[in-house]
Amino acid sequence: MRISVFRDPEAVAAAAARRVLGAVGRKPAAVLGLPTGRTPLRLYERLVAAHARAVVDLSRLTTFNLDEFVGLPPGDPGSCRAFMERHLFARVGLRRQRTHVLDGRARDLRAECARYERAIGAAGGIDLQILGLGLNGHVGFNEPAPHLDPLTHLVKLTSATRRANAAWFENDLRRVPREALSMGLGTILGARQLVLLVTGRAKALVVRRALEGRVTTWLPASFLRLHGNVEVILDREAASRLTER
Ligand code: GLP
Repeated sequence: MRISVFRDPEAVAAAAARRVLGAVGRKPAAVLGLPTGRTPLRLYERLVAAHARAVVDLSRLTTFNLDEFVGLPPGDPGSCRAFMERHLFARVGLRRQRTHVLDGRARDLRAECARYERAIGAAGGIDLQILGLGLNGHVGFNEPAPHLDPLTHLVKLTSATRRANAAWFENDLRRVPREALSMGLGTILGARQLVLLVTGRAKALVVRRALEGRVTTWLPASFLRLHGNVEVILDREAASRLTER
């Protein structure tokens, strides 16, 4: 595991953008795994800017998002699909068939999860998976629990995670779905390269537990350490409680 610490969230985003542009430089039709959330917003801004300046052509990428809420009406601005369209897909000319987001309205959610795993396989697997970290140590929507589902699955969201996501629903907790679909840790660890982005003091303790504590299902992000090619990119605040540096 490589840990890189940068001055602030802007420098974290710049480093993450370099990783993505590096992957695209090596393979213009690369397959990316992508998160939603506040943390990757600056990265997406940089990718959009690089695409606009014709530094890179991102329209040949294939993408797979980590997760999606269950049961939202189509086009709901709180959905991960709408988030990605708004911040990245529509702005870099990515055609719909190249962008994969789980369908949280599928009638058969289990079948939808199995379909997603097959689609990742059919695309040749994920070259670079970008990840964010939940305050409670979740990645994607893999919540702390006595056991974890390895592959894409239906998740019951914890109240902490629902509260953390209320901002995407005009701070109306009642509107935050109770369930989501998420890649499992096995799906995530199947990517050839992982990059975990974490910024801010609020996550300093969970960063320490994830990177220095035991590997445990009670802290799903700790499993990322089992991957052979993982980089954790932190700002100084998120790194401030690491002891082994
Ligand atoms: C959400 C998403 C995660 C994301 C996490 C952190 O619950 N499902 O994929 O990484 O929250 O979000 P933020 O970057 O806003 O702190």
